[in-house]
Amino acid sequence: MNKIAVLTSGGDAPGMNAAIRAVVRRAIFNKLEVIGVRRGYQGLMDGDYVALGIGSVGDIIQRGGTMLQTARCEAFKEVSGQQLAMANMKEQGIDGLVVIGGDGSFNGALKLTKQGFPTVGIPGTIDNDIACTDMTLGFDTAVNTAIDAIDKIRDTATSHDRTYVVEVMGRHAGDIALWSGVAGGAESILIPETKMDMDDIVSRLLASQKRGKKYSIIIVAEGVAPGHKIGEIIQERTGFETRVTVLGHIQRGGSPSAYDRVLGSQMGAKAVDLLLSGVGGKMVGIQNNQMVAVDLEEALNKTHQLSLPLYELARSLSI
Ligand code: ADP
Ligand code: F6P
Repeated sequence: MNKIAVLTSGGDAPGMNAAIRAVVRRAIFNKLEVIGVRRGYQGLMDGDYVALGIGSVGDIIQRGGTMLQTARCEAFKEVSGQQLAMANMKEQGIDGLVVIGGDGSFNGALKLTKQGFPTVGIPGTIDNDIACTDMTLGFDTAVNTAIDAIDKIRDTATSHDRTYVVEVMGRHAGDIALWSGVAGGAESILIPETKMDMDDIVSRLLASQKRGKKYSIIIVAEGVAPGHKIGEIIQERTGFETRVTVLGHIQRGGSPSAYDRVLGSQMGAKAVDLLLSGVGGKMVGIQNNQMVAVDLEEALNKTHQLSLPLYELARSLSI
């Protein structure tokens, strides 16, 4: 292996730049050339390539987003798109590819590997919804961003004796809601993995009012229901003055946390090591604080499991 490429695909996540930097520096450390592909699989098909040297990834470890930009690209789902991408890479003398993205991006990475092009995945998504890794890149920062907002909302909630509903990201995975709910001391946490029970939420709110609590914070993952809908129901059924905040895409941006910078650095280096040892079709993960290599197929076939004990803990603490 002489030359590898790296791209970011799907939703951006804080820490992707740290991973790009690690891929580039670890590769150069091992005498490999590195090509950056702009705009994910779209750029791979368009030949939107840039040579990356040591200095080109300087001053990015602390930046959110992705210096290579990202894209969603329907044409790459077709075999013709994948073949065009492989032909472009072969023409450039590229022998291996690192894909930083979520499960959609990993489907593309697996297809390239199956057609003979060694590709390794790094789980980069704020949702933490990928199996076989304890954490995905960006999740920690997103939760810290949500917590920062929730703490601020708590200030105004206590000042006005109001109920607040905070909608966080997560269409299918409730990890951001769960972690920010536990860390933010929320009264109730609504996640897509469990059945929504408005009776339970209302009775918990009424019970906490009875024992003198005058404000409450409810966290809802976007995949459960729109925060505004939940807010309307709560106000109607309790009579409590309720406000709703949708955190939205601020959760995707911002300077990555120390954890995501370290995780991105570890994952980027491990991905290069795998390609160097001739291994493709793998996803880099972190399990019990150790870097691991898991078959992409296995990671894609399994479903990420949200921590139900943490959910139960949240319920038992917010009485
Ligand atoms: P994420 O990687 O964050 O889950 P997406 O699901 O949007 O984001 O996927 C990102 C890109 O990965 C898609 O736009 C497409 O180019 C590629 N991709 C997704 N699914 C497949 C698939 N089944 N086969 C090939 N490429 C895919
Ligand atoms: O997968 C990351 C994520 O931010 C989800 O939490 C959210 O549902 C989705 O992406 C939003 O995607 P878009 O980039 O299309 O707004």
